[in-house]
Formats: sequence, C-alpha cells, structure tokens
Amino acid sequence: MVGRDRELARVMLLLDDALTGGGRLVLCTGEAGIGKTRLAEEVAALAAARGVPVAWARAADAGSMPPYGLWQLVLDESAVRAGGDDPSGVGLWSRVFGDVGRPALADGADSGSEQRFAMFAEVRRRLAQAAKPNGLLLVLDDLQWADEASAVLLADVARQLRGTPILVLATYRESAASGDMSGGLLPRLSADADTERVDLGGLPAGAVGDMLLAAGLPASADEADQMHSETEGNPFLVRELARTLAEQRRGGPGPGPGPRPGPPDGWRRRRPTGWRSCRIPPGRWSRPPPWRATTSRPA
Ligand SMILES: Nc1ncnc2c1ncn2[C@@H]1O[C@H](COP(=O)(O)OP(=O)(O)OP(=O)(O)O)[C@@H](O)[C@H]1O
Ligand SMILES: [Mg+2]
Repeated sequence: MVGRDRELARVMLLLDDALTGGGRLVLCTGEAGIGKTRLAEEVAALAAARGVPVAWARAADAGSMPPYGLWQLVLDESAVRAGGDDPSGVGLWSRVFGDVGRPALADGADSGSEQRFAMFAEVRRRLAQAAKPNGLLLVLDDLQWADEASAVLLADVARQLRGTPILVLATYRESAASGDMSGGLLPRLSADADTERVDLGGLPAGAVGDMLLAAGLPASADEADQMHSETEGNPFLVRELARTLAEQRRGGPGPGPGPRPGPPDGWRRRRPTGWRSCRIPPGRWSRPPPWRATTSRPA
C-alpha cells in the first residue's frame, strides 16, 4: 500500500487507544476504488500481527441482505463465535435469526422491542467476550449496503463502545450513487461524538508514481503527474491503467476497440466523463512514456 501512511498511522493510533479501553467506531469514507478496503486490510493485518483478534464482515449489494444480515456475518466470524458458546445466547440467537431448519426471520427489524433489546445486549455481550483478553478489531466493509436493521444495531453497538477494547472500522462508499441506499446512515453514525472519520481522497502524485513502479512501469515525475491528473489519484484507476499499459508493453492487445475493465460500481454513474478520460487514446501522452519503449519487465 502506498501513500496512506498518515491514515494508517491514525487508525493504528485509534486501535491502540481502543486496546486500553477507548473503543470507538471509525468510519472510513471515500469514493469507489479510493482504497477503503485496502486500508482496512492493512489495519487488519497489523492488528492480527499484534495478536488482536479480527472479525470481518462485508455487506452485500444494497437490498440483498436479510434483516441483521451484516451481524449474522459478524457473529459467524471465528473471532466472535468463540465467545458465543453460552447456551442461552445460542437460544436467543436462533429465536431471532432462525436455525438450520428455519430461515432467518424476515421481520427481524420489527421484532418486539423487548426481544430486540435482549438481542442487542446479547450481541454486545458476545463482542465483549470476544474482546477478552486481547481486544477486538471488527471490520464492517461496504457499510453503505447494510440493511436497515443492521444499521440500527450498529448504532447501538457504537454508542456503547466507550470503555471497551473494541475498535469497529467501517468502510463506507460515499458517492452520489450510494446516497439513496444509505438512508442517512452516515450522518446518523457520524453524529456520535466518539466516532472518528477517516475520509480518503486521491493519492498524491508521488504515490501514483510508486504504484506505477510497483507495476513494473517506472515513470518520470512528469508522467506520474500526468497519470495523477488523469485518475485524480484513484488507486483503482491507476491500477487498471497501469495494467493496460503493461499489456501494451508486452505487445498485447492494449485497450483496443473492445470493452476495457470496468471501474467499480457507481463510478460511471457518478463521473461518466472522468472515467472516459482515463481511457488511453493514442497520442494522449505528449511523448511515449518510457514503459512503452521498455521490453524487459523488472522483477
Ligand atoms: N494505497 C494504495 N496503494 C496501492 N494500491 C491500492 C491502494 N489503495 C487501493 N489500492 C488498490 O486499488 C484497488 C481499489 O481499492 P479498494 O478496493 O480498497 O477500494 P475501495 O475504496 O474499497 O472501493 P469500493 O468502494 O469499490 O469498495 C485495489 O486493487 C487496491 O488493492
Ligand atoms: Mg471496498
């Protein structure tokens, strides 16, 4: 990972803080392909290397998750499941979500307030148990697609993280396209005083140059600048463009007339012209970039 030292250091500091009882929710936001998941992966790897249990759950496309679907995934994670062997907890869980012979309750979001209260408490208890004795990092990826019931439960969990050794790191794609699906979740969660935001913007030009180098395409500062302005430092676009350029260099078909690899969901809707300008028209570069002329591929 390049160009995210500051953000990584920030989240790791928050993890340290959490491990000494300063648990909280961290919301990592940014447009499609900007590197939210990648940052979370790096944090997860560093946390695991330090012996902190990590649970990871990813929301599926909007509308495709059952009520509490995201939390079902969380509680199925081995880091959390280990804390769920209390028979009464299992009973409660299967009453709410169903068991093997019975699909999860379709009306989970509407279950009675008493049952809901008990279930929320049970989820918090399981998280607390999983966090004993080494803390817990819970990553919720693609939160913008979480079902409403899961969002309500997350808000409840987040409110009560203070004093626990639990860091919840949620990635959230923020874009015009996802605004409707979120149902105001981001402002609701951000409103909590303890919640931290880590908003990712484009990578700086130097980091774009580093990505090109890592892809075997060493670029001058000018060329890295040019790629930077083409992609606005979006690492997904840099990676795709670098892949195409590397293909060209190997004598492959290059972009050609056929479809190019697509950008992440939502990109076209959000920035139709931005993506088009990232295609590589012949002669777009003022002079052939050095990788076109290079024939050997650095190790
Ligand atoms: N800082 C970085 N350095 C190198 N590669 C990166 C960096 N950030 C992201 N990438 C790469 O760019 C691609 C897109 O990143 P990622 O999937 O993390 O984006 P995202 O913000 O999670 O997008 P989405 O909203 O679609 O989930 C991935 O291949 C990832 O490995
Ligand atoms: Mg992602």
